Amino acid sequence: MMTTAELRARERILLCPTYARYPLAAVRGEGMYIETPEGERYTDLLSGIAVCVLGHCHPELTAAICAQAGTLVHVSNLLYHEAQLELAEKLLATAPDMERVFFCNSGAEANEAAIKLARRYMREVRGEERFRIITLAGSFHGRTLATLTATGQDKVKTGFGPLPEGFSVVPFADLTALEAALDTHTAAVLVEPIQGEGGVRPLPADYAQALAALCHRHGVLLICDEIQTGMGRTGHFWASHGLGLQPDIITTAKGLAGGLPIGAILTTAEVAQGFPPGSHGTTFGGGALVSRVATTVLDIIERDGLVERAAQLGAWLRTRLEAVAARHPGHIREIRSAGLMVGIELARPGQPVWEALLQQRYLVNLTQDTVLRLLPPLIVEKIHLEGFCTALEAALASFANE
Ligand SMILES: Cc1ncc(COP(=O)(O)O)c(C=O)c1O
Repeated sequence: MMTTAELRARERILLCPTYARYPLAAVRGEGMYIETPEGERYTDLLSGIAVCVLGHCHPELTAAICAQAGTLVHVSNLLYHEAQLELAEKLLATAPDMERVFFCNSGAEANEAAIKLARRYMREVRGEERFRIITLAGSFHGRTLATLTATGQDKVKTGFGPLPEGFSVVPFADLTALEAALDTHTAAVLVEPIQGEGGVRPLPADYAQALAALCHRHGVLLICDEIQTGMGRTGHFWASHGLGLQPDIITTAKGLAGGLPIGAILTTAEVAQGFPPGSHGTTFGGGALVSRVATTVLDIIERDGLVERAAQLGAWLRTRLEAVAARHPGHIREIRSAGLMVGIELARPGQPVWEALLQQRYLVNLTQDTVLRLLPPLIVEKIHLEGFCTALEAALASFANE
């Protein structure tokens, strides 16, 4: 077996250097844990960035993968198969206002599909010259040309111009700016209910309500990017529902198949008219294997009450973190959380704290330089979160005198 150092050296001569990786390799995963080639065990509070919602190698998911792999894996979207329809039915049951699904393979593709659908619906169904997509500063919507243009962070755009036209980014939670940007060419407003990459920043509830009302008044579609916030993570199946929103399109990906690549949009029958035969598509989207696995994920989330559990555990964790913050004044600026989506904003750059946590074998993420982000599997238990709080406290204590 190759060591972490050997993997690192090998990667350097084989792959495009797109990733600033952690100094960590994985050879095996089980439940809440990842094992390295050196035999160390890390508690995974990141889930492959909100993907492994049932933890690693959940026995029922493994069984579903094996069973479907021996039955039917892929036939393309030229053929019907039951697995895709069963998944669509289960997914629509999570959002009573939604009536149609389109499957793809990633979050960026889901947002790309939502952008295309909004534009085509406006032009071809409503007959209106509306194409502009408005997004918020600090947002993250993906890496395709359209979705990086929609993203409200310049760092993802550098060097990739010319970028597609018809996108505007407005300041976060600024209703006046949003109102000024909405015009007769606007097709949709695309928002994350809680900005994930942007540092776990929730839309203020009153702003979200006003934004939805503005969209309604201007005849503009509301698209909620639930790629990170969906699948019950925030204590609601969809975070937009927690905010009282009724989006026209919801985009999802990440945790939907518990680790296999998938993306999807949910929309109304009215808006779905914008995607007639031949207008959009994908070879792999909604394949039999990934669909069966995603259906199993949804079944387990429902059977095991993981959404309610995320709400309860998240509330408990927040209280624990607030106690840690109170014991270490000056270190933690703010704790922002919804269920098991947690951001701990530190008062200064968080790299040393992140490293100290890694040394204690807790895997979390650092975003926007100062925000420790936790996106644990929904099967996480108090003992793991308790252990993290103790590790965090030790890390903060070690920096107390600096
Ligand atoms: C809110 C949000 N939208 C879109 C994406 C892009 O998803 P993917 O990396 O699957 O293309 C991400 C990924 O982090 C995300 O967090």
